Amino acid sequence: MRSALPLSARSFNRLLSSAVNVVQAGGGGGSGCSSLLPRRWASSLPQLDSVDRSDEESGGEMIDWDNLGFGLIPTDYMYVMRCSVEDGAFTRGELSRYGNIELSPSSGVLNYGQGLFEGMKAYRRVGRAGYTLFRPEENARRMQHGADRMCMPAPSVDQFVDAVKHTVLANARWVPPQGKGALYIRPLLIGSGPILGLAPAPEYTFLVYAAPVGNYFKEGLAPINLVVEDGVHRAMPGGTGGVKTITNYAPVIKAQMDAKSKGFTDVLYLDAIHKRYLEEVSSCNVFIVKGRVIATPATRGTILPGITRKSIIELATDRGYKVEERPVTVDDLIDADEVFCTGTAVVVAPVATVTVEGQRYSFRTGPDTVSQELYTTLTSIQMGLAEDSKGWTVAVD
Ligand code: COI
Repeated sequence: MRSALPLSARSFNRLLSSAVNVVQAGGGGGSGCSSLLPRRWASSLPQLDSVDRSDEESGGEMIDWDNLGFGLIPTDYMYVMRCSVEDGAFTRGELSRYGNIELSPSSGVLNYGQGLFEGMKAYRRVGRAGYTLFRPEENARRMQHGADRMCMPAPSVDQFVDAVKHTVLANARWVPPQGKGALYIRPLLIGSGPILGLAPAPEYTFLVYAAPVGNYFKEGLAPINLVVEDGVHRAMPGGTGGVKTITNYAPVIKAQMDAKSKGFTDVLYLDAIHKRYLEEVSSCNVFIVKGRVIATPATRGTILPGITRKSIIELATDRGYKVEERPVTVDDLIDADEVFCTGTAVVVAPVATVTVEGQRYSFRTGPDTVSQELYTTLTSIQMGLAEDSKGWTVAVD
């Protein structure tokens, strides 16, 4: 067990000067929107000295870095940026103490689910100070694409990446030691303004918070057990399955809970029309392997275009595998040698068994598998253990 230290004076000054830069970069000036934040956070600079930091002093000491799971461990700061309809664009953001936010009961996100989120990870750099992010501009672009679908303004790629970097630096003491996990970063874009009739909200909030995490599944890195679900669907053609809206997730919780109560790790969903083609798992994309051929369901609006998915496709192709993005049937799955899942939270998770209509099918797992090879290739780049010849990692100093 290692304890995390409070912010050093150097970090504090760096944080403060970073925050000043953010405010200046935004051109100053208030947005004119009503504040989402409690009054103590509403100034143009983070209220670092005026808040009670006693929780901060004690919180980190409780962290058992060797046993991080995917539970929420609150950190010190979050980044908030707002945009009203009059503004038309996000103009300036600021760091605030991590905590509850104030929302109108009639906000668009609470009433109509107008919201998107992203998931990202920051790792402690090997051999020198600082942190690395993995393809953060991909998350920014995916949020922009989703915002278009959900009728919301989105931050620019630079604003998004800048906000994420500030959030990492402000919470640097929560980035797990190398090999113990990552700082999971959760950017949110929500319709925070009040609206009663069904329409886009009049104000939007972009918020980034972070939490240290280890493995997503309770199995750790051990292979998982899935069950194919043909009664509940996570997406349909013309819906929002292809964007990371918050409304894609609550509807699958029941199926997930039912599966867990029967001893499965998670659910593998099928397409809503034919109930025959694989879509994805509740929190990740799915791949099957047959010989040197890897297949994954093509993203045609119902499947989330995962950034880990995209990276694995490229890395596997580089390593000589034939990778097919195509409709993948349940029969293809049953016939596969290996099955694995990909996602920011799950990384690359090998699948030991998939149960289809009560029949359990087993797949290869272990050291000499394709999923293990791809897991090592990907995480070595993400953690800075291998050369990043693709320029995917972004330094945070
Ligand atoms: C992620 O992998 O980052 C996600 O957003 C999935 C989430 C359900 C944990």
